[in-house]
Amino acid sequence: MPRHFLRDDDVTSTEQSALLDLADQLKADPLGTKALAGRTVAAIFEKNSTRTRFSFEVGISQLGGHPVIVDGRSMQLGREETIEDTSRVLSRYVDAVVWRTFAQKRIDAMASVAGIPIVNALTDEFHPCQVLTDLMTIRERKGRLAGLTLTYLGDGKNNMAHSLLLGGTTAGMHVRVVSPEGFQPDQQVILDAKHHSTETGGSATVFTDPREAVEGADVLVTDTWTSMGQENDGLDRVGPFRALQVNAGLLKRAADEAIVLHCLPAHRGWEITDEVLDGPASAVWDEAENRLHAQKALLVWLFGQSGR
Ligand code: CP
Ligand code: NVA
Repeated sequence: MPRHFLRDDDVTSTEQSALLDLADQLKADPLGTKALAGRTVAAIFEKNSTRTRFSFEVGISQLGGHPVIVDGRSMQLGREETIEDTSRVLSRYVDAVVWRTFAQKRIDAMASVAGIPIVNALTDEFHPCQVLTDLMTIRERKGRLAGLTLTYLGDGKNNMAHSLLLGGTTAGMHVRVVSPEGFQPDQQVILDAKHHSTETGGSATVFTDPREAVEGADVLVTDTWTSMGQENDGLDRVGPFRALQVNAGLLKRAADEAIVLHCLPAHRGWEITDEVLDGPASAVWDEAENRLHAQKALLVWLFGQSGR
């Protein structure tokens, strides 16, 4: 059976740590392995992308593999062909599928009949490749993950909030999420994160007061207040979020030497100020670079796990 990476807790804490070690090795020697020689990986995008698209294409090429990058809207998937039939067919052509789509249930359906590894390149609910990268970046800066406090400020129902809850607690971190009323994380994701915490010594806590949530935090993470696909959902995605802006005042309340992450694209002046994004606490450019290394590690590891 192939291994998939559909959400952050599809890997155990030990596996996550091994993946991060491999990512560090690949960063130190980017062209040192051709582990994907002779393999083809399809990457399908039903939403816009800069980082994910380029980092997968470059990463697969660096590993000696062949990337096939397709706009999902141009596939028969965009007309009437079912996800399952698409998956059955792709399993006959390529060695893995990386997919950016809408509802998580779509990628679950793809994986349910796939004979090859399926990787979540962002759904409405989760963004596990990004959070694997964020963990790599934090470990690079801080030397460890377990026991650190990470505060996410923004839409608690979005993919980043959910993935940080699952991925962060799998790493033994204390994950705090602060969101406006009505934008709190999915209850089941909180329960899952709390469950992981019992095994790793981490914790998952939801806040409403941003100043309380960032107090003493080692890492602040923010993201757009309006995710792709939410542009016309009729909700006020500005007013209730203003107090969550990551600015110099809020950053002062975090731990000394706290770092700031943002998966990008950033909406400067909204969820984060220029001063913080371009300032000394910002690790966002390393974070963007690390997408390449973390995803290469993920592909190499998935093929190894799947005996392929
Ligand atoms: N952070 C991220 O996933 O960026 P893209 O949407 O540009 O791929
Ligand atoms: N939450 C954002 C992340 C973009 C990389 C979105 O889904 O649009």
